[in-house]
Amino acid sequence: MKQVFIKTYGCQMNERDTEALRALLKSRGYAINDDAHNADVILLNTCSIREQAETKAIGKLTSLLAQKKRHGTVLGILGCMAQRQGEKLQKRIPGIDFVIGTEKLHRVADYLDEHFTDVKAKPMSTIVDIASEKNSQNKISARDLRPHQVSTFVSIMQGCNMRCTYCIVPQTRGRERYRPMEDILEEIQQLSAHGIKEITLLGQIVNRYGQGEFPIIDKQSPFVQLLEKIQPLDGIERIRFMSPHPSGFGNDLIQCFGQLSKLCPHVHLPLQSASDRILRAMRRPYSRDQFRQIILRLREQIPDIALSTDIIVGFPSETEDDFNATLEFFEEISFDMAFIFQYSPRDGTPAALYEEQIPENTKAERQQKLLQLLEQHSHRHNQKLIGTTQSILVEGKARYGDTKFWGRNPGFHKIIFDGEEDLVGRFISVKIERASTTALLGKRIS
Ligand code: SAH
Ligand code: SF4
Ligand code: F3S
Repeated sequence: MKQVFIKTYGCQMNERDTEALRALLKSRGYAINDDAHNADVILLNTCSIREQAETKAIGKLTSLLAQKKRHGTVLGILGCMAQRQGEKLQKRIPGIDFVIGTEKLHRVADYLDEHFTDVKAKPMSTIVDIASEKNSQNKISARDLRPHQVSTFVSIMQGCNMRCTYCIVPQTRGRERYRPMEDILEEIQQLSAHGIKEITLLGQIVNRYGQGEFPIIDKQSPFVQLLEKIQPLDGIERIRFMSPHPSGFGNDLIQCFGQLSKLCPHVHLPLQSASDRILRAMRRPYSRDQFRQIILRLREQIPDIALSTDIIVGFPSETEDDFNATLEFFEEISFDMAFIFQYSPRDGTPAALYEEQIPENTKAERQQKLLQLLEQHSHRHNQKLIGTTQSILVEGKARYGDTKFWGRNPGFHKIIFDGEEDLVGRFISVKIERASTTALLGKRIS
């Protein structure tokens, strides 16, 4: 049996794609091996979002090339960097075998089968398959759940029609394509039959699901209709989604937080910047005030709703005043969590050509300032939970200590407690005793 090692970079979509690929490969008689040294096939499912993401994958690749020379391993590059660079990647790094883009992952097993069974097959090193494919959003459906797995991602769409000036995703993932609602609901029912209790709906802009293609019914967007149809499904106890976009985060969606009991009280809403001038330059079609209004209305529904965001610092031409606007707004909103990125120019995006690029050290300083603020806010939010009892879905063993396990509360806070293996997959109650910036510690009470 041929052994396949797969390493995944990037976002949850890539993780979900890799899971489907693992399942597909297994069904075709391949074994998945966690040790690259024992593998006949090595696949890297890559990300292009920032320079660093590509550098990491290329570093790994370079070290794997030595192994390829020794053992004749097949080395395939998949995903967003494959899509973006195509055959340039093969030319740049000799030794790479096939390059397969984001819409063709389901073809990986076919190419491997041909390679291993057909002596007349085209040499692997000539395969670059980055074409787009109609209905590719429906081809990634297979599942490879771990024993006792309780939480999983469900990709409901692919692609992005926005054109944020810094972002490579529209090039790597193509135009928006939505899966039919019935397919998604059927998939979730099957997941529930396998013991899944928490699902996270995924899309580059998940709240744009079905827009322009599926009807609006009773003033409800297709995304809200989907949420309402998931709510009554037996066995599913928690619904989350990632990432919504501020534009299109309408009242219908805001009201769901007060009405759908399974919808978790946590929203990850990327802000990017709180300077209206920078938002315009980023081509983000909302203002700071519109973002604030969404947060206020969400807090009307659920006063202590957990909030997280993405911020880019050092976007071209960002002045101290622009940055201070972000800093002040960040202080005002007080997010529970945030990902704070230094702007990374991506070839082929408009912002990479803007003249006023910001020096690296300024980006680093701005990132540090926001991180310090975030630390204070996260700490404050976590402190407030001390003494409360939280319902936790137990995910697994914590990284340290033999008896430590972890899970998340509805607000997505990570909570660590003393437990045992058979709690995994169960809902338990934990009384919070201590809090740090990144985690909460508590005691199981039932
Ligand atoms: N579709 C989501 C974001 C997906 S990418 C949305 O629009 O909200 C995840 C995050 O990466 C983005 O929110 C942004 O903060 C960051 N990002 C994207 N391109 C970047 C770049 N060129 N440099 C730095 N960060 C970037
Ligand atoms: Fe990128 Fe903007 Fe699309 Fe998000 S909305 S994936 S940031 S282009
Ligand atoms: Fe990266 Fe592609 Fe996701 S660029 S962030 S893996 S969509």
